[in-house]
Amino acid sequence: MCGIVGYVGSQQAVPVLVEGLTRLEHRGYDSAGLALLGTTGLKVAKRAGRVRDLSEELPKRFAGRIGVGHTRWATHGPANDVNAHPHTDAKGLVAVVHNGIIDNASALRQRLSDEGVELASDTDTEVLAHLVALSEADTLEGKVSDALAAVEGTYGLAVLHVDFPDRMVVARNGSPLIVGVGEREMYVASDLAAIVRHTTTVAHLDDGEIATVTASGFTTYRLDLTRTAHDTMTLDVDPTAYDAGEHDSFMHKEMLEQPAAARRVLRGRLDERFGTAHLGGLNMDARETRAIRRVKILGCGSAYYVGQMGASLVEELARIPADAEAASEFRYRNPIIEPDTLYVAVSQSGETIDTLLAVQEIRRKGGRVIGLVNVVGSAIARECDGGIYLHAGPEVAVASTKALSNMFLGFALLALQLGRVRDLSIADGRRLIAGLQQLPDQIESVLAQEETLAALAGRLAAAESLFFVGRVRGFPVAREGAQKFKEISYRHAEAYQTSELKHGPLALIAPEVPTVAIVPDDELTGRNVAALHEIAARRGPLVVVTHEGVDLGEVDAERVVVPKNERELDPILLTVPLQLLAYHAALALGHDIDKPRNLAKSVTVE
Ligand code: AGP
Repeated sequence: MCGIVGYVGSQQAVPVLVEGLTRLEHRGYDSAGLALLGTTGLKVAKRAGRVRDLSEELPKRFAGRIGVGHTRWATHGPANDVNAHPHTDAKGLVAVVHNGIIDNASALRQRLSDEGVELASDTDTEVLAHLVALSEADTLEGKVSDALAAVEGTYGLAVLHVDFPDRMVVARNGSPLIVGVGEREMYVASDLAAIVRHTTTVAHLDDGEIATVTASGFTTYRLDLTRTAHDTMTLDVDPTAYDAGEHDSFMHKEMLEQPAAARRVLRGRLDERFGTAHLGGLNMDARETRAIRRVKILGCGSAYYVGQMGASLVEELARIPADAEAASEFRYRNPIIEPDTLYVAVSQSGETIDTLLAVQEIRRKGGRVIGLVNVVGSAIARECDGGIYLHAGPEVAVASTKALSNMFLGFALLALQLGRVRDLSIADGRRLIAGLQQLPDQIESVLAQEETLAALAGRLAAAESLFFVGRVRGFPVAREGAQKFKEISYRHAEAYQTSELKHGPLALIAPEVPTVAIVPDDELTGRNVAALHEIAARRGPLVVVTHEGVDLGEVDAERVVVPKNERELDPILLTVPLQLLAYHAALALGHDIDKPRNLAKSVTVE
């Protein structure tokens, strides 16, 4: 998705902006640009392609101490130089960078052309530059407010104007924007990654807010320019977390960080004495917790699949009916919001628009929502009634790994707490706690199989199409395995319930279509092995992710053996090798692991 970085201060802005844009590259983009306010007015440089290409080709004397940068992900019009941001008005007085989508852009473009304005690009954003320029307000804040009054849609944006050379004005509605506080210098960004080298003291703008940012500070307003108050927070983030270090990709680094991340999410939250979990951030007392009759989990993509694992945990441990649903679909079916249902929004970024809008829909109808979120202070975290921070640390790779493992652990903690105010015995609570305590080391032992998995992945990468199959607890594992594989290898990978194979997809099983089967040591092992026989009979190559001692009979299969934990906690250990398979398949195919085509780290537009 698009990225924004801005700087106001005494340094030259270009190095800060280029570094910021480079750090936003992982979000996915197709063009990049900069605008500066210098002694000779407004200067803009932009082009399709990489940030490096842009910075290498910047004109000489491209200088200024206030500026904005942008990485664009094309929505309106192709990825070319003209459509790249920043966009300017006809006289080149105003420059705008914008994330989000202006829904009424066509009508506004028509209105502007009727008024004689010549539009240079195909974008929705350009209208903002013209609207700001046309406003007769005396202040830049007033001009931006006037422009936004005409606009319907989502935005995180930053505006420069030659008549106001000491400031930029930024605004947010549905697309993240933070203001970073430095020493007599200020930053803005759509993602902390862009400015983390300079500051971790930030203010998160709320939807419907405008801010004036100068070298000495910032002031916030509502869209009607009445003042708002804004605290800053200093985030506990290690800036080196945004460097890949000795790893070839962030995904590799983040996979290997899983044991440490898992220890962090569990730290201080396990109560061995009472066999339960401490989750103070839920903001619910025992009576409210007991009153929950149903749990509904909402997330997108992999977060949705981990949500399905979470629903199983809640049903198994707390015996409360639970299910997960794609947040992107939820609000479109006019969902019934029940007072005794606990809604759970799950998101790494905390900015996924579909999940955020689902949360807002539930709250509008009076429901209680908690968030399982990784990014502190993110929109979803702020919108929820309470929650569990995932403490996975910054996750940069588009393909999510450590955050997903911590989501699973977050659900285990939630299920444990819900269970212990109901019928889960103290002995079972302690059994689960012992299992959770073992998990980080067990994840480490799965990661230690990387070499073997790499060899296996090289063979899987040769197939154009693959199946990932599992049953009950194993099915979301298969879904996540297929998701990870297709995201970065671009191979067609389809997840199915093993039990459903006979009802259709078995027709596709053939020597050139491998199947990755999840076969844990549990009550369904026999049924799973029977399905393996059916696949083998059709000469379908098999990779079986399983536990020590599982008897596959005569089936000819490559085995990946993961350690056994409590059966409820097994799904996460079965998932980790699938991450490594996807990663090594993508590597074997020569793909850019951290920037998979067409995908973005956080999806902040619908
Ligand atoms: C995961 O590998 C994917 N990139 C994607 O499905 C992701 O999980 C989804 O977009 C949700 O993101 P979130 O956790 O930031 O809300």
